[in-house]
Amino acid sequence: MDQCSKSFRVDQATVEVLRGISLSIKPGEFFCFVGGSGCGKSTLLKMIAGLEQPTAGKIAVGGHTISGPGLDRGMVFQEHRLLPWLNVEQNIDFGLRESVKQGRDAIIREHIQLVGLQGFEKAYPRQLSGGMAQRVGLARALVNRPEVLLLDEPLGALDALTRQQMQHEILRIWRAENTTMVLVTHDIDEAIFLADRIAVIGNRPGEVRELIEVDLPRPRSRGDRGFDQLRQRLWDSIFEPQSREADPTLDNATTAAVTDDSPEATEFLLK
Ligand SMILES: Nc1ncnc2c1ncn2[C@@H]1O[C@H](COP(=O)(O)OP(=O)(O)OP(=O)(O)O)[C@@H](O)[C@H]1O
Ligand SMILES: [Mg+2]
Repeated sequence: MDQCSKSFRVDQATVEVLRGISLSIKPGEFFCFVGGSGCGKSTLLKMIAGLEQPTAGKIAVGGHTISGPGLDRGMVFQEHRLLPWLNVEQNIDFGLRESVKQGRDAIIREHIQLVGLQGFEKAYPRQLSGGMAQRVGLARALVNRPEVLLLDEPLGALDALTRQQMQHEILRIWRAENTTMVLVTHDIDEAIFLADRIAVIGNRPGEVRELIEVDLPRPRSRGDRGFDQLRQRLWDSIFEPQSREADPTLDNATTAAVTDDSPEATEFLLK
């Protein structure tokens, strides 16, 4: 990702959402983007997916510049986006590329097993829990064996217990499939639990504020000292500009650069 920026035109005005994002994600890496609401995380992921084009800069996967969606990249959205009139196996079949003519059933069975949904092959989305529906979403995204799996807050709608269980599942799938994972989240603990590296995205415009290596052995425990230190560091990195703004002892030049009293900024502060 080289000097990527993205602006949108809204009512004659240009809103700069992302600015000058340059980074390189290694094959097989578990990479996380963390940032407040509205900082441009989904936009960034959609650009990697090829669903949005950068206004400036370029993004390449495996040396090829991205010009649109491709089977080398699978995406899991915040909401499961399953088709309600199709059952579990039909939803996964729907995601499987058309060019596979033989052995479709075996591939679908294998992926149902991978996400632990044996016995629910014939169930319809309305008959599944939130966690189960997200598992189907994962299977559907993995069924074409993508090199990169893009996860946009896939666990955001789940309760705390299911969320933690799914984090373990995602790690297991990552190991089993060797896929490069790119996860977007605003949950600091989730990022530390899962990632090899974390990029903190600032707000307005979204820039990479810090790139943090998570040098903790797996399985990670949220109560560990190292986990706690990283949590504090990430918290400071995400909220530092706002605390400076609130601190009258800081010089005006620093404060001016970060002042933003738009509703989005307030929402970001509250998160
Ligand atoms: N198609 C669009 N047209 C105009 N503005 C857009 C469009 N898509 C996103 N934006 C704006 O870009 C900004 C970033 O949006 P984005 O959805 O990427 O944020 P996010 O970090 O994913 O937020 P959240 O954590 O709430 O999901 C927002 O201010 C949003 O209004
Ligand atoms: Mg989003």
